[in-house]
Order: sequence, then structure tokens, then C-alpha cells
Amino acid sequence: MTKKLELYRCNICGNLAEVIIPGAGELVCCGESMELLEAKNNDAEANEKHVPVFMKDEQGKNEVRVGSTLHPMEENHYIMFIETITPDYNRAELQYLHPGEEAKMLIGEKLGKELAREFCSIHGLWEGKSD
Ligand SMILES: [Fe+2]
Repeated sequence: MTKKLELYRCNICGNLAEVIIPGAGELVCCGESMELLEAKNNDAEANEKHVPVFMKDEQGKNEVRVGSTLHPMEENHYIMFIETITPDYNRAELQYLHPGEEAKMLIGEKLGKELAREFCSIHGLWEGKSD
């Protein structure tokens, strides 16, 4: 049984799937069960910062940055997407990112306490909450 907004990865082909509407079945890709990704939320032992942080940009707009110092966005190591999710899990917004861009996402309004998660091409899934 899946749950809303869970992320599953195929460790053979790299497919990454998000559950929009949960169902009873098991997610399978390339003939094997897909792996349920668990977000990490503390990278004190890593060299880079991965935990998403909610803050204001120079114009006072709300944004989510990946890391208190921005994560690198290199060809082989970058943040593939950032997603924000409201506490009731009824609204999610996903921003794809590419090498050369900045590891951040503008968010229009902030609806109470939100969750942000990001996926690093090398270090996987991380999450952080707004204050
Ligand atoms: Fe990384």
C-alpha cells in the first residue's frame, strides 16, 4: 500500500515516481520492486549542505534554498528538483533544476508550515521544514 506523495526509485533504470493517488499494489519497474525513498534531514557529516532551507531572497520573496550554503550545480552532481508540500499534503509544487542553475526555488506564498524536499543526483533525497 502506497501513501500520497511517496517517492519510489527503480535502482536499475533510475525511474523516479511520485504517488499521486495511493493504491494497494506494489510499484514495480524493470521487473523488480521499486525502492521507497526516505528523506534525510541532517547532513552534519557530509561535506556539502543538502537540507532545504526556507528564507527570503534579496527582494523579500519567499524561496527554498538547498543548503545554508548553496549546493553545487555541476554536470555530474546537482539538485535535480525541489518540491514543497503543505502540512496537510493537499498541495505540492515541484521545480526541476539543471546544471548551471542555482539550487533554489521561488515560492509564491507560504501557506503555514511547509515541508521542502530536494533530490541530489549523487546524495539522494533530503527534506527540511519551514520555521
Ligand atoms: Fe550532493
